[in-house]
Amino acid sequence: MLLGVNIDHVATLRNARGGNEPDVLTAARICKVCEVESITTHLREDRRHIKDADVEAIRKLPRVRLNLEMAMTKEMQEIALKLRPHAVCIVPEKRQEVTTEGGLDVAGQLDWAIEFTKPLIEKNIEVSFFIDPDVHQIAAVSKTGAPFIELHTGKYSEAFGTEEEEKCFQDLKGAALFAQNFGLKVNAGHGLNYQNVHRMHEIPNLVELNIGHSIISRAVFVGLEQAIKEMKSLCENSSK
Ligand code: PXP
Repeated sequence: MLLGVNIDHVATLRNARGGNEPDVLTAARICKVCEVESITTHLREDRRHIKDADVEAIRKLPRVRLNLEMAMTKEMQEIALKLRPHAVCIVPEKRQEVTTEGGLDVAGQLDWAIEFTKPLIEKNIEVSFFIDPDVHQIAAVSKTGAPFIELHTGKYSEAFGTEEEEKCFQDLKGAALFAQNFGLKVNAGHGLNYQNVHRMHEIPNLVELNIGHSIISRAVFVGLEQAIKEMKSLCENSSK
């Protein structure tokens, strides 16, 4: 499995003090040195962590694949069409949430999802929808023309090591297999860490994992390069 590193948390730390430390672009360059598959950032409506200037600067880095997470709004669609990131992941967004809670309800707003996706695909931007492991949502995404889903692994991550783990894991696995029947490619992410990520290898054909919080947390102790390398190795090797 490939690794996409979410560097929003570097911006969160930077914004706590204002100024430019720690520098988001330096984090992006370290991701590049580690040869991660993509650098993921979530440009929120309130710009609470990553800012427009950050994504613009990351987009300009040569040989870096930018995966822009964003809400399904007109404003974000316009930004994506102008910026032309390599990929966008469409996520639900609530102002008060600490992090993305739950997947997007694509089925409940299918017409808008189709309309939203079309110009992005026409610009060769790879579109993915961040959804819960739910057959109705997967079937809905298959109608939008988006080639990818990203499965929300938050429930599995929270349940890891408890009685609930197996059910949450089987939900993810079942959803991934169901999505593959529609020809959808499957990414996953949210809450994955150095302890729970290994089970993702049990899900056939997962393409990419997007991981942020645990990597940036570990980077505080071992440095970002080391933290990324350790996670990359866990993603690449099922035996670890
Ligand atoms: N994927 C998506 C769509 C997300 O919104 C997030 C959180 O921003 C992640 C992956 C990464 O989650 P975490 O920071 O818990 O690893």
